[in-house]
Amino acid sequence: MPGLDTPLSFKGLKLANRIVIPPIASDTATTEGRVTEKTLDNYRRLADSGAAMIIVEHCFSLPSGRFSEGQIGVHDDASIEGLSAIADIIRKAGCVSCLQVSNAGSRVKPGTLRHAPLAPSAVVNNQMPGAEMPQAMTLEQIDQAVSAYADAALRVKKAGFDSVELHAAHGFLLSQFLSPLTNLREDEFGGDLAGRSRIHFEIIRAVRSKVGGDYPVFMRLGACDDMEGGLKLEETSALAPALAAAGIDMLDISGGLQGSRPQIDSEGYFSHYSEAIRKVVSVPVLTTGGIKTPQAADALIREGKADLVGVARTVMKHPHWPRQALAAL
Ligand SMILES: Cc1cc2nc3c(=O)[nH]c(=O)nc-3n(C[C@H](O)[C@H](O)[C@H](O)COP(=O)(O)O)c2cc1C
Repeated sequence: MPGLDTPLSFKGLKLANRIVIPPIASDTATTEGRVTEKTLDNYRRLADSGAAMIIVEHCFSLPSGRFSEGQIGVHDDASIEGLSAIADIIRKAGCVSCLQVSNAGSRVKPGTLRHAPLAPSAVVNNQMPGAEMPQAMTLEQIDQAVSAYADAALRVKKAGFDSVELHAAHGFLLSQFLSPLTNLREDEFGGDLAGRSRIHFEIIRAVRSKVGGDYPVFMRLGACDDMEGGLKLEETSALAPALAAAGIDMLDISGGLQGSRPQIDSEGYFSHYSEAIRKVVSVPVLTTGGIKTPQAADALIREGKADLVGVARTVMKHPHWPRQALAAL
């Protein structure tokens, strides 16, 4: 049985152990969305942690889908230089690097945009206090969002990252499309699960056409809304094998519209989602949520609840936690 210290190789990547630092927004960009010295200092600290892989924070793929003023952009070619400095830091530390590409949709910090946010439907986002009423996207705007994800993924590759992650969790745009609570569309991008996930498959196809078949592409999938009338785990369990077949090389399982940090405080609080998804796919599955102790992290791997564990807030508090956890075991 593998444990926390067991290496994992997949899709040409070699992870030295099973600990991943999941995306943690540092919100340290300039108003143009460029990487700053503060951003680099943050990743120097994280790269030295002993984790096998670092997934760099959500970066906006399109200015109209920007989450906050401090969010880093991957929306134009001028962003590549700053992002490549982050990739260098992670590579030099011997870690596998990844960067998360995002579009916030309706989950925008008030005051960030000079226009109404764009979302599948005109439904106010429950994740963002004071969120504005969004405008329902036209088919042309959906096309633009799809192309922007693909162009951004190519920039991630050009910046020297080992892999890219597509954000489809936590009530951001792709989470909004997947949830029946925020997607009320009556066209081909709404309705049943096939309609609500159509944009996911269009994005995967577009990304693959830009980055090629060999480049590792991950998806952070909000597996369940855990809300009355919301997205159900049975639906994402049906979707996951199709996402893998379409070209997703690792599923990073998290929450849907209820976000990444639910009220419950158990270690591995989304592991019932990752365990269910892991049973139906053959690509690796990552679980994140509330991990504080090496023993709990190790048990999640040994008990088959996930192939990888993400540790965010504990590493923010104790930057050497991954190395210390491996030593403690
Ligand atoms: C300050 C902060 C920023 C975060 N930024 C992101 C992000 O950019 N993208 C993302 O998918 N999740 C983000 N998350 C969620 C974390 O990746 C993680 O899923 C969540 O914190 C639960 O894990 P933990 O209990 O180990 O902290 C963020 C969490 C925190 C605390």
